Order: sequence, then C-alpha cells, then structure tokens
Amino acid sequence: MRITVIGTGYLGVTHAACMAELGFEVMGLDVDVEKVAALADGRVPFYEPGLQELMREQIAAGRLSFTTDYAELAAWAGDGAVHFVSVGTPQKKGEYAADMTYVDAAFESIARAIAHQGRSLVVGKSTVPVGTAARIADRLAELAPNAEVAWNPEFLREGYAVQDTLHPDRLVIGVRSEQAEADLRHLYARLLAEKVPLVVTDFPTAELVKVSANSFLAVKISFINAMAEVCEAAGADVMQLSQALSYDPRIGGRFLVPGLGFGGGCLPKDIRAFMARAGELGVDQALAFLKEVDAINMRRRARTVDLAREQCDGSLLGKRVAVWGAAFKPESDDIRDSPALNVAASIHLQGAQVTVYDPKATDNARKMFPTLSYADSALEAADQADVILHLTEWKEFRELDPAAVGGLVRSTRIIDGRNALDAAAWRAAGWTYRALGRP
Ligand code: UGA
Repeated sequence: MRITVIGTGYLGVTHAACMAELGFEVMGLDVDVEKVAALADGRVPFYEPGLQELMREQIAAGRLSFTTDYAELAAWAGDGAVHFVSVGTPQKKGEYAADMTYVDAAFESIARAIAHQGRSLVVGKSTVPVGTAARIADRLAELAPNAEVAWNPEFLREGYAVQDTLHPDRLVIGVRSEQAEADLRHLYARLLAEKVPLVVTDFPTAELVKVSANSFLAVKISFINAMAEVCEAAGADVMQLSQALSYDPRIGGRFLVPGLGFGGGCLPKDIRAFMARAGELGVDQALAFLKEVDAINMRRRARTVDLAREQCDGSLLGKRVAVWGAAFKPESDDIRDSPALNVAASIHLQGAQVTVYDPKATDNARKMFPTLSYADSALEAADQADVILHLTEWKEFRELDPAAVGGLVRSTRIIDGRNALDAAAWRAAGWTYRALGRP
C-alpha cells in the first residue's frame, strides 16, 4: 500500500513524514514548486521541532519523496493506494465561511489523475464544513468510480506535530464501507496496537468532531479570559482562580491559562467557519455563543494595548515599546492571526516605536509587518524601552534575569500578556509588573 499526501503545509508535511516513519512509502505533492524543491532537499520551510530530522531520515531511507505533478503521483502510487488530502481551508476574505477552493481543486485533480486506475481510497484530512465529505464523494463517483472517499480529521498541535501524529489522543475515521475502515485500520495498525482509541463513524460526525474540538478549546480559553475581565473589575486574581478551578477534575487546568487569548491558523477561523455553516444548516442559534467567545478573545488584544498605554502614562506617542514574542504561540514560527503581532501593530499605529523579538518567528513577522522594528535578542529589543510586553511565552523569556534587563530599559515596567513570568521575581528586582486579570 503506497501513500500520497496532497498539500504540504504543517499538517501535510508532518503526516507524510510520520506515515513514512510508520514504514510506508510516501509521496507528497504540492502545487508550490519552490516548496516542493525545498522539501525534496530535506528542508522544512517552517519551524516544527523534530520534523526536519524525521524528514531527512525518511528521505535518506528512500521512503519519502515529493512532486508537483498529479500524473506522476498517481502512476507512482498505483492501484490500492491511499491518497490523503491535507490542503488549507483559510477564512474567506470578508466572510466567516471557509474558503474551499484548495480542497475542491485538490480532490478534483487527484480524482482526474486516478480516474482510470483500480481501487483506491482518498482520505480528507483538512478541516472542512460539515457536509463536504458527502459532496466530494458524489463528485468522485462521477470522476473516478473506483475511488472511495473517507474522512480522517487531524488533531495535531503546532509545536508538537510529530509527537501528536505518532502518538495521538484518538483517531477518528468517517467511512462508508468496511473496506475503507479496513484500509485505515491497516494504515494505523501500529498506533492501534498502542491502544490509541479509534472512533469509526459516518462522514458528518467525523467532520464535526474536528470543529467541535477546536470550538471547545476556544470556549475554555475565552471562559477564563472572561473571568479575567471580571477579576480586573473586582480586584481579584485570575491566576489563583484558574488554579483553584483546575483541581476539579471535571474542569481540568489545560487551556485554562488566562492571557492574550488564542490565535493561529486554526482556532479563530474554525469557530467562524463553524458559525457560518451552522447558519446554512438553519441552526445558527446553537452556535451563537461562539460569537461571544470570539469577541472575548479579541477584547484581550485591545485590553493589552490599553494596559500598555496606561503604563506609558496615558499616551503611546513617541514611546519605545519592546515586544517579546511574535509567533501565535511558543515552539512555532507561525504568525497567522498572531495576538502578539496584532498588539504590536496596534501600538505602532498609536505612535510608539515598537521593537519585536521572537526566537523563531522574526523573519515571518518582518515580511508581514515591515514597519515594525526587529531585534536579534530579547535584551536588544529591551534597550531603552519605556515598557516591555511579554506576548508569546517562549521559555527563553522566563529564563531572563529581571535585574539584568532592568539595567537596559528607560522604565522598569513590564506587561505579562501570557501570565507566564515569575511576577514575584520581577517585582523583587524593582519592576512594575502588570498582567491581564491580576491586581
Ligand atoms: C489547535 C488545536 O489545539 C489542535 O488540536 C488542532 O489540531 C489544531 O488547532 C488544528 O486545528 O489544526 P494549534 O493551533 O497548534 O492547535 O494551537 P493550540 O495549542 O491549540 O493554541 C491555540 C492558541 O490558544 C494559541 O494562540 C495559544 O497561545 C492559545 N492558548 C492556549 C491560550 O491563550 N490559553 C491556553 O490556555 C491555551
């Protein structure tokens, strides 16, 4: 059984390399010629811990290759192959709904390429509006009658992508035949042998598991951030509140860290696309709460800007602001909908001179926000700053010595947008330490 993976973003590259690690021969495809050239050369065009090494190993072992050509891919894979589709579903411009252009084009292209082959399985991994798999199955039945569709959503987190793919919490497969289930059980045999739970279900349930999981995570984050708003008004401490909640096993402490809120290429656009789809299905009321979840999340960004202005004595005009962090979360260089950069850009627009430092995402940030200044280290960014904003919780920021940083700045004022620094240590070194949701 040969495997192909169409679309080589975070998800596709990781999936391809991990399937090769599981012992299969894998070919990845992307329409981006430069990306494919880099991948074929063993270079991963983004930062993901452990992925580059895994890729190189698998390429060297002859199990992993890449192409831009669907005909080559189909001929290589032959009959009985499993083709995964893992292209992106970004938010449509000016709308909540997902842009399905890439998904539709990928399925259309693979269907045409395998039209005259024997049996094969085409498995969707992209996050899609419920109903997509059924629609695509109808189209495939016309174009490639020997091919069958299955849906296998992906739950990996950026920063832990390899680990999450090789040791997932669960596998979910939406299938319409025993053969499709058998193919996927064979493919994931090693994981199933390790007792990874498997849910075998229909198409719409498989599609909904994915978006409801991300919605639930967004709800948890916005819940604690709403509590942070109340804590700010009541003079309470949201970190202690969160800690106390976390001891209740029904609530749990994960994704209950208050701060600047969620960003990235998934949570924000997924909850919006889910609301849009619910509207089409006539159940928009069921998901009306997600609008509030989104609003709470966006208010944290505005509140952080306000806090920075307060710390600069009421005006950001002409102030020097250091921003630590640009990625949407640590262990990633992904800046899609990054709360940190959103705050940095807003502060810049209010007349401050903003200097950003991120351990991995500086190059990406510079491309998207060329008018911000960039530093090569956290200390360089802090030089002569009127206030420091800690906005992405990289470990290296927690390891900085507050006294040493204090010797560089104009004013010892720091805002911890992620509630991750040691407040007591910063205060002991003479800093005015402020964090969201705490006195
Ligand atoms: C998320 C999900 O966690 C994955 O399960 C899913 O597969 C993925 O989306 C996807 O749909 O592809 P990811 O976007 O990599 O993964 O990032 P998360 O770790 O979920 O973090 C999302 C955002 O929430 C980050 O900006 C993070 O800083 C923020 N966050 C997280 C908080 O603000 N507070 C928390 O307590 C936890």
